[in-house]
Amino acid sequence: MKVLLIGSGGREHALAWKIAQSPLLTKLFAAPGNPGIAEHATLVSLDVEDHGAVIDFAKENAIDFVVVGPEAPLVAGLADDLRDAGIATFGPSRAAAQLEGSKGFTKDLCARYDIPTGAYQRFRAAEPAKAYVREQGAPIVIKADGLAAGKGVTVAMTQDEAIAAIDDCFDGAFGSAGAEVVVEAFLDGEEASFFCLCDGKTALALATAQDHKRVGDGDTGPNTGGMGAYSPAPVMTPEMVERTMREIIGPTMRGMAQDGHAFSGVFFAGLMITRKGPELIEYNVRFGDPECQVLMMRLKSDLLPMLYATATGTLDQIKAEWSDDAALTVVLASKGYPAGYDKNTPIDHIPEASDEAKVFHAGTAIKDGQLVATGGRVLNVTAIGKTVSEAQSRAYALASNVQWENGFNRSDIGWQAVAREKGK
Ligand SMILES: Nc1ncnc2c1ncn2[C@@H]1O[C@H](COP(=O)(O)OP(=O)(O)O)[C@@H](O)[C@H]1O
Ligand SMILES: [Mg+2]
Repeated sequence: MKVLLIGSGGREHALAWKIAQSPLLTKLFAAPGNPGIAEHATLVSLDVEDHGAVIDFAKENAIDFVVVGPEAPLVAGLADDLRDAGIATFGPSRAAAQLEGSKGFTKDLCARYDIPTGAYQRFRAAEPAKAYVREQGAPIVIKADGLAAGKGVTVAMTQDEAIAAIDDCFDGAFGSAGAEVVVEAFLDGEEASFFCLCDGKTALALATAQDHKRVGDGDTGPNTGGMGAYSPAPVMTPEMVERTMREIIGPTMRGMAQDGHAFSGVFFAGLMITRKGPELIEYNVRFGDPECQVLMMRLKSDLLPMLYATATGTLDQIKAEWSDDAALTVVLASKGYPAGYDKNTPIDHIPEASDEAKVFHAGTAIKDGQLVATGGRVLNVTAIGKTVSEAQSRAYALASNVQWENGFNRSDIGWQAVAREKGK
C-alpha cells in the first residue's frame, strides 16, 4: 500500500514511525513532514491548503491511502475532496469535523442525544452572554466557538473574569472563531483524554491519556499546546472506559449518522470524570499532540490496517492489542514559549532511540546542513516502562542527552500518576 501522510508535527512523526513498521506498506510519503519523519518517509513539499495539488500528487504517484494528521485540513474539507476524487482517506468530512470546529455544534449534539456534558448556552452578542453569566454565577466557563489553537477557553473563577473573557471574544481576540461564544457550567473532577476509532457504524476504543497544558512545573503558568503526556490515565478504569463508550461515544456516533454526517476517523474525547461519571468537555477529530506519541509507543498491533479499516468501513473486523506498560512523553520547547522565542536555534545532538525510548521531532528543520528548532514545541522525548515512574525516568534520562542550548522542558511530567504509584 502506498500511503501519503499529511502533517509535520510530533504526532505525524509518531504516526510515520508506526506506519513504516507495517508489512502492508510499500511506500510512505509525507507532506510537508519534518526531519524526523524523513527517517521513515519521502518528504513532499505540497501546499496542503491547495486540495487540487494534493489530489494531483496522489493520482500521479498512485497513492492508495491518505492519512490526515492535523485538524485544520479536516475542517477545510481535505478529506471530502480526496474521497470525491476516489482516494481512500483517514479523517472525517468537513461536516463531521464540526465536532472540533464548533463547540456550539457539539453542545447541541449532546443536548439532542442526551450525552452527559455541562449545561450551556450559545451567544452571538456580548450583552445576553453577560446576563446569562450573572444569572448562573461563577465559576463558569467561556469558550470561543471556533478553532482558537487551544487559547479560546477561559475557566472563570469570578463573574468579572467571565465578563472580561466575553468581551475579549466579541472584541475579536480570536478572530472569527470568537464571533460566537459558548458559556457552560464548570465541571469539577479529574480530566482525561479518550481515543477511539470510528468508521461511522463501529467504534473501537484505543487508549486513554492525560496531558500537561501549563508551561511550568506543578501545572503553573500560561497554557500551551501541551508540555507532556502519559498513557494510560489511571482515572480511566475499565468501568469508566465502558461508560464512556456507552454514554458518550455510542450516542455521538449514532447521532452524527442520524444527522447525515456519519463520522469516520478518530474521536479524541476530552473528558471530566465528575462525581456523576464521565462528562464530555470537547471533541477533537484527530489524534492529540503529544498524546499520539504515547499511544503509538503502547500500540502493539499494526496501525495501518486499523486506519484503513476506519476509512473503508470495516472496523468491525479489527482488534487492537496494547501494551500494559505505561508510556510518557516530555516536550522540549524553545525558551520563551508559549510567548516569543528565537527561531532557527541549533540542535547539536539527538540521542539514538532504543526499544524503550525515542525522540520524536515536532518543530525542527534542516538549514544549511544543521538541524534547527523552528517552532515552540520542538522535540518529544518518549519512553515506555512497567510503571509511569519507570517511563518517566527513562524519558528524562534520554532528554538529558539532547544537546540543544535554547531548549527547556518541564521536570515533572506525570507527577500525579507517579504520586499515585508511590502511594500504592
Ligand atoms: N466545563 C468545564 N469545566 C471545567 N473545566 C473546563 C470546562 N471546559 C473546559 N475546561 C478546561 O479548559 C480546557 C480547555 O477547554 P477545551 O474545551 O478542551 O478547549 P480547547 O482544547 O479547544 O482549548 C480543558 O482542558 C479543561 O481543563
Ligand atoms: Mg481541549
